Amino acid sequence: MKKTIGGQLGEELKAGFAAAFGEAAGAGVGIEAVPSTNDRFGDYQCNAAMGLAKKLGQPPRVIAQQWAEAVNARGFARCEVAGPGFLNLTLPEAVLGAQLEAMQAEGGLPVEQSGAGRTMILDYSSPNVAKPMHVAHIRSTVIGDALKRIFRAQGYQVLADNHLGDWGTQFGILIMGFRHFLDEAALAASPIDELQRVYVLSHQKGEEDAAWKEQCRTELVKLQAGDPENLALWHKFIDLSLAEFNRLYGRLGVEFDLTRGESFYNAALPEVVERLQQAGLVRESEGAQVAFLEEEGLPPCIVRKSDGGFNYATTDVATVLSRMEEFAPERIVYVTDERQQLHFKQFFVLVRKLGVKVSLEHVWFGLMRLPEGLLSTRNGTAIKLEKLLDEAERRALEMVKASSPDMPAAQQAAVAHAVGIGAVKYADLSQNPQSAVTFTWEKAMAMDGNSAPYLQYAHARIASVQDKYRERFPEGSYADAPLAAALADPAARKLGVRLARLPDVVAEAARLCRPSVLADALYEVAQLYSSFYQNVPFLKAEAGIRESRIRLCALTAAALKQGLSLLGIEAPDRI
Ligand code: ARG
Repeated sequence: MKKTIGGQLGEELKAGFAAAFGEAAGAGVGIEAVPSTNDRFGDYQCNAAMGLAKKLGQPPRVIAQQWAEAVNARGFARCEVAGPGFLNLTLPEAVLGAQLEAMQAEGGLPVEQSGAGRTMILDYSSPNVAKPMHVAHIRSTVIGDALKRIFRAQGYQVLADNHLGDWGTQFGILIMGFRHFLDEAALAASPIDELQRVYVLSHQKGEEDAAWKEQCRTELVKLQAGDPENLALWHKFIDLSLAEFNRLYGRLGVEFDLTRGESFYNAALPEVVERLQQAGLVRESEGAQVAFLEEEGLPPCIVRKSDGGFNYATTDVATVLSRMEEFAPERIVYVTDERQQLHFKQFFVLVRKLGVKVSLEHVWFGLMRLPEGLLSTRNGTAIKLEKLLDEAERRALEMVKASSPDMPAAQQAAVAHAVGIGAVKYADLSQNPQSAVTFTWEKAMAMDGNSAPYLQYAHARIASVQDKYRERFPEGSYADAPLAAALADPAARKLGVRLARLPDVVAEAARLCRPSVLADALYEVAQLYSSFYQNVPFLKAEAGIRESRIRLCALTAAALKQGLSLLGIEAPDRI
């Protein structure tokens, strides 16, 4: 595919403008075609004429009229003037058909390679050792994984880095708890739960018992000094936690290229503070090294505590420096919940002031709510992610057994896995990440709403139309049937326009770091398909047009499948 449809229309508008008003008049003016909000206004729109009135000394409508004539003279798209000077663009069926055929030739949903030759690091999931991953963590994991797939589709070399929380004062407390309160059987059965339990006991004891608290501190200092016994315990905590995290990642189909905890950067921390001092970015205050960021309108940030310990921000600055040296990325994108916004703002300033050239981006999301209340990572009553996935797969299996009672059990289980996990992921991905999500099973599993099961069933039904065609017309072939012929019907044309937009939608989802943009577009495609299917005969249509329509079905199925896979969601051919 040479160009996305939005890209081509943008070029047509620019060329038309240059023809009507001269190359120079358009310099520095943002001219682009954006999808119409309403089909009455054509397939795409442009409102640039409004902003050009002053520059050209003519009323917008007059500009728009001359402009539209020039665009029409080029013959690619039909251009009409509306209202005070809007340009409405409509794609001729031949152009739309050709675009859809180009998409199909490249597998259904080709993506512009704007990331080719570029490296970026994606920092996501990043749970804390010895603490259970809760439902709120799923957002970072699921959104991060979708972003990884989307950026990779753009050609980026993406390094997925799981920045584990594996260092800090909690380890002194945990070591004491582990030595004194451990239940071996419980540890074998559910390691993180048991680590969490002994941690809580030890922490509580420390609140009441000053000597215990002191001992916790001593164990921490020993660990930091490399005491072999404490180091071995610490490694054990990490191994046990990672085994459990990895089991979850396996279920979610999420993979990382690097799993580097905060501890990986420990040795570099003193030097980071020195660099910050040399650059005049921190100064001493009450025994601590503090970065004052009032110029940026941010509160001060402690990079070294008065007891000599380092902070979260120090580690993150060290992490950037290390990543720059080793991988030289153009961008580092972090995915966490909204509560960390200040932290990222602060250390981004420090990195920038150190003169490091890299684009640092924080993608934050709201916390997920269940009807019963807030699910925060720091809240002991949170439902664990694993339980949620179990329940999702159980519900999905019921659905699959009802819809395909004679499917072999192993296949039913595989489909239930795809549907259940897909439902939980999509419940996250389909939301604007920056709003609080209320998770309900009704919504996540809805067969008639914006859910993964809805899209997966739609995909399977569309795929089955092709099977039916092959059964009924074993000699027939739709592979080369012209797609333009299917577009004469209004329902088919609407579907075609939405399909043609998908490559631009993927680029937009990447630009905004917002997978929900893609989810919304896929949902719209599935809905338009169903009105196409209800309004237009397929197998009963006359030969020729029948093949064109089946080919449009095939493209729809392929695009949905690829779009879902960019979200990390499987689309089985049968459900
Ligand atoms: N471990 C942190 C938490 O669970 C998230 C780390 C995010 N990544 C980073 N480079 N700070 O809150």
